Amino acid sequence: MKRPSTNPLVCLLPALFLFVNCKTLPAEPTGLVTENAMVVSAREEASKIGVEIMKNGGNAFDAMVTTEMALVVAYPFAGNLGGGGFMVYRKADGDVGALDYREKAPLAAHRDMYLDSLGNVVPDMSTKGATAVGVPGTVAGIIAVHEKFGSLPLEEILAPVIRLAENGIVVTANQANRFAAVRDRILEVNDSVTTFPIDSKVNDMVKYPALANTLKRIAEDGHDGFYKGKIAETLARFIQEKGGFITEEDLAKYEAKWRQPITFNYKDLRIISMSPPSSGGVTINQIFKMIEPYDIGKYGHNSEKAIQLFTEAARRAYADRNYYLGDPDFIDIPVDVLLSSDYINERMSDFSFDAASESSKIKEGNIQMAESMETTHYSIVDKEGNAVSVTTTLNGAYGSKLYCDELGFFLNNEMDDFSAKAGVPNMFGLIGAEANSIAPEKRMLSSMTPTIVEKNNKLWMVVGTPGGSTIITAVAQTILNSYEFNMSMQKAVNAPRFHHQWLPDVVIFEPQGFSKELKTDLKTKGYHINEERTPIIGKVDAIRVLDNGKLEGGADKRGDDTAVGF
Ligand code: DON
Repeated sequence: MKRPSTNPLVCLLPALFLFVNCKTLPAEPTGLVTENAMVVSAREEASKIGVEIMKNGGNAFDAMVTTEMALVVAYPFAGNLGGGGFMVYRKADGDVGALDYREKAPLAAHRDMYLDSLGNVVPDMSTKGATAVGVPGTVAGIIAVHEKFGSLPLEEILAPVIRLAENGIVVTANQANRFAAVRDRILEVNDSVTTFPIDSKVNDMVKYPALANTLKRIAEDGHDGFYKGKIAETLARFIQEKGGFITEEDLAKYEAKWRQPITFNYKDLRIISMSPPSSGGVTINQIFKMIEPYDIGKYGHNSEKAIQLFTEAARRAYADRNYYLGDPDFIDIPVDVLLSSDYINERMSDFSFDAASESSKIKEGNIQMAESMETTHYSIVDKEGNAVSVTTTLNGAYGSKLYCDELGFFLNNEMDDFSAKAGVPNMFGLIGAEANSIAPEKRMLSSMTPTIVEKNNKLWMVVGTPGGSTIITAVAQTILNSYEFNMSMQKAVNAPRFHHQWLPDVVIFEPQGFSKELKTDLKTKGYHINEERTPIIGKVDAIRVLDNGKLEGGADKRGDDTAVGF
């Protein structure tokens, strides 16, 4: 009889194999896992409604329409009829595309509309009340999605949302806190009276009858039900009475636009993200290309070297963002140059792990031109494998805080995303330039980064987040967490995040997860660290496709976000 081998090498081989392959073994899921389809959004009710539509035979695009509208009811903080957003999609057959339903400046807008006679920015004018409102794009967005890709009738898709608005929704603890935090500002903007249930407490049931009526009109008459006729008349009159600029003509002229997304490779990933007028795709593309030559996966998650490399890439990419990007229908953006290898290599040529670069010396890259907190994200995958990544916003929390009682929704303060005056920071501290100056019918530059990632030519991840200027870095870090640091979707979403945006020249860290020693070491190298308590950075909602084809949700623990699927 042959005796079993006692050669120690043979015994160690399986362990050795496991060790060598450690990084390449896919991370075990820790979030919700389902077989067929999933929605991850800021509220369980919205995720559930999206999933129900897919169970009833609808596809990911039908689910987009119903989830977007359910968030208006369940998450008025950012879910909206009075705002705008972006969608990136990848169909099961691999076809990709993007929809821009970003707000526009009204026809009466002009470059210096937020400046006083001395040329100074008038405080609050672009952030609070009717003067801050851009022409809303959300309804045009959902109708465009439904017309192109929808499979169920609009009435059927919107019916459960209308029921939700009529029957009511339970106030969560987070929501009650947010109501309390903005109560006085909402009353101030709305002349001390509002039908918005601002005094609701946790577990109260709140109903939105006026909103239900508005949704019924949209269900019946589609795009024109909102942008023409009774609703348009009421909305334009309301905004003008409150001192704003939007007319019925502005509403009648609004159209959502299909755009080519930004697509690029990072190692064996293909990343598909939003093109201008969002800066998300271009900036995330630059960041990934700047870090690609380094083996960031080996440095360790949130290690000093990984933070340095990411920060320096973000510093340079945001400097370009703020100078070169704006609405492509109004300005020429040198996208090809900004994303070319030569340019990217040149931008990182002065990077060193020894010391921080200084933003004051970075500026935008030198390119020869031929001429001259609140948002929400949701991710959806259906059983066919269609994927939808949507970020939608009112800009600030409850937007301009202006609430139209008659129609039942808040209006955005997106005009603040323009550069009111070159060099003066907006509410996210972003400094803009001529490319993002105000003009009639122009779209304001955004940071929203709805993104889809392929691995080996197959759908791998759907990801995005709110967070103003921090959106781009939060999305990039979530992808790196999964790909380079081998985390499950849920862990990648939960992991502590940091941020740098060129100016102000500070690195901000979430309160947990970064040691004092790490920060001291970075300071020694010349990094400016924000010492004050930084609030959360982003609230990521994502889906990962596992090797066995199942879906893993990553619903951010920082909010009420919930993954639902079947
Ligand atoms: O489009 C943008 O970049 C901003 N209006 C997004 C605002 C936002 O994410 C606020 N949420 N925290």
